[in-house]
Amino acid sequence: MAEVKPYNMCWLEYTDLSKYKNKYIKVFENVVVLGGNELNLPLKELKNFLTFSLNIKPKIFKNTLVKGRNYVLIGRLIEIKKIFKESERFEKLLNDEGFIIKRIDIDGNKVLIITAKSYNGIVYGIFNLIERLKRGEDIENIDIVSNPSLRFRMLNHWDNLDGSIERGYAGKSIFFRENKILINERTKDYARLLSSIGVNGVVINNVNVKKKEVELITPSYLKKIGELSKIFSAYGIKIYLSINFASPIYLGGLNTADPLDKRVAVWWKAKVDEIYEYVPDFGGFLVKADSEFNPGPHMYGRTHADGANMLGEALESYGGFVIWRAFVYNCLQDWRDTNTDRAKAAYENFKPLDGKFSENVIVQIKYGPMDFQVREPVNPLFGGLEHTNQILELQITQEYTGQQIHLCYLGTLWKEVLDFDTYAKGEGSKVKEILKGNVFDLKNNGMAGVSNVGDDINWTGHDLAQANLYTFGALSWNPDERIEEVVKRWIELTFGDNEKVIKNISYMLLSSHKAYEKYTTPLGLGWMVNPGHHYGPNPEGYEYSKWGTYHRANYEAIGVDRSSRGTGYTLQYHSPWREIYDNIETCPEELLLFFHRVPYNYKLKSGKTLIQTYYDLHFEGVEEAEEIRKKWIELKGEIEDKIYERVLNRLDIQIEHAKEWRDVINTYFFRRTGIPDEKGRKIYP
Ligand code: GCU
Repeated sequence: MAEVKPYNMCWLEYTDLSKYKNKYIKVFENVVVLGGNELNLPLKELKNFLTFSLNIKPKIFKNTLVKGRNYVLIGRLIEIKKIFKESERFEKLLNDEGFIIKRIDIDGNKVLIITAKSYNGIVYGIFNLIERLKRGEDIENIDIVSNPSLRFRMLNHWDNLDGSIERGYAGKSIFFRENKILINERTKDYARLLSSIGVNGVVINNVNVKKKEVELITPSYLKKIGELSKIFSAYGIKIYLSINFASPIYLGGLNTADPLDKRVAVWWKAKVDEIYEYVPDFGGFLVKADSEFNPGPHMYGRTHADGANMLGEALESYGGFVIWRAFVYNCLQDWRDTNTDRAKAAYENFKPLDGKFSENVIVQIKYGPMDFQVREPVNPLFGGLEHTNQILELQITQEYTGQQIHLCYLGTLWKEVLDFDTYAKGEGSKVKEILKGNVFDLKNNGMAGVSNVGDDINWTGHDLAQANLYTFGALSWNPDERIEEVVKRWIELTFGDNEKVIKNISYMLLSSHKAYEKYTTPLGLGWMVNPGHHYGPNPEGYEYSKWGTYHRANYEAIGVDRSSRGTGYTLQYHSPWREIYDNIETCPEELLLFFHRVPYNYKLKSGKTLIQTYYDLHFEGVEEAEEIRKKWIELKGEIEDKIYERVLNRLDIQIEHAKEWRDVINTYFFRRTGIPDEKGRKIYP
């Protein structure tokens, strides 16, 4: 029996799959491992799965081939090539972290080979094999070559040393408590979960690096971070830290953090040397600079490139990276000022610096130009930056998308972002192709997801929000995968192969983002949330604030004119998007209110007015949420009771809150315009 843990293991849970025992026993009776002890850990993963889920107890052979029997052969390619000449051709099929799983004939025996160039590749290969076995896949003639398309596949934790999590909706931090670093069984299990979805980097602390967190790069914390890093490295994951750009002042006693001041550069170099002493496998820094009150190079009249490159130089000899966020804008705007458009800020700040960043600096860009709204256009820096390594930043944690109380599966949205064609070099310049390095000559790209994990029993608060974490990993490994496939796989791994369960949960996940969008702020409007915590409707919550997020509704029209006649934001896009977005007639309607100021009586393609469409979408959204809940209720008895109840409870709350959204927003529009719903439904006057 596998030990019972006080939390569930998501898609890695050892469920009883002895029904597949006969199918697999012939393959797994003998396992040969080549090399020293370095593969013990992936081997153990396989062994545990075989034992606990399939009730198969393989015989393990180290560096001895078994004659006259079928066996599994695990080893780095360099080892496999020594005994099996033909495998030389595997060399060119694999990139650094890819793997091969292939069943072949060696001397009349059937041998299941799991191989890779690197240790990471072997670990990924083993987890991939486990997934296949868990789903009962036929592996008689398995022949898989799988390479990650993106080099950086990262999670960003916004965790604070006191154990709180900025925008966390699943309990407390699994990394920190009361200003100490936590290391326990769960640490390792988290590394396992991430490794099983191909993640290779984790930033453990919040991008807002406040007083206490500044000290994370001092010996008082580095020792523990070294221990943490060992645990994660064993699963192919590097630890990164968010840093405060003014650390030389806070920690070094300097009177400046000017990146061009020699003393500052020397301080950082010594600091980096020290970090690597404690954490030899350290990944690098994540930096939020000159953004939302965090210090940065602008304070000294220097550029982001000056700041990032100075840090890059300190990290270079260790192979470390600087990940520099592009989330830079004026957060002290005056709502009366209609000339400043926050949407333009990232591009305006970073486009002029394109080509000025060092090789080991990566600019991390939020998917949209504002801030993780339920829908935004794709950030024009994608396609805008041609000579700068880039990471696409997504928010797995559901800050603006229902805070893990609402079911809001984000894979469908992410897929649209990845598939967006920037036309930077003509047709085919999709975001995912840029990240793969196929559009510009850039290799150090990737994806980062702001983590939705905390110490709740199910890690993510809402059990079905685990799907968002899983999907983030899947898409950063292979952004071309069909989202329906990812969803199906996650359901099977988590809930088993019951047809109805697969069908209903697929429906729930795949329709949830659209439903959420409809009953909140559809047509690209966004921002009608309560200030601060960002949950629930508040149509003018941000209207007169300093954050630059206005819709400027009056009695006639709503939305900001971001066309070339307005703020000129559309001009940041390549053709044909520039023209498509610029024209109210051709602008995709799902983004209409993002790009245009639209009169309430403006007729959309359906022939309906804007206001009627807004009413309709809100009623539809609630109906769709109710349908989603129905699909779950149909699964009563098919899903473990505790999980069933937990999810049902959240779906009940979701319906209530969806109605609140519907009524508040509809009432707001009605009160603004006095235009009644054509269908005479209840709107509160
Ligand atoms: C959002 C979020 C903040 C976060 C910021 C960021 O504004 O609300 O909590 O710090 O994004 O991405 O830096």
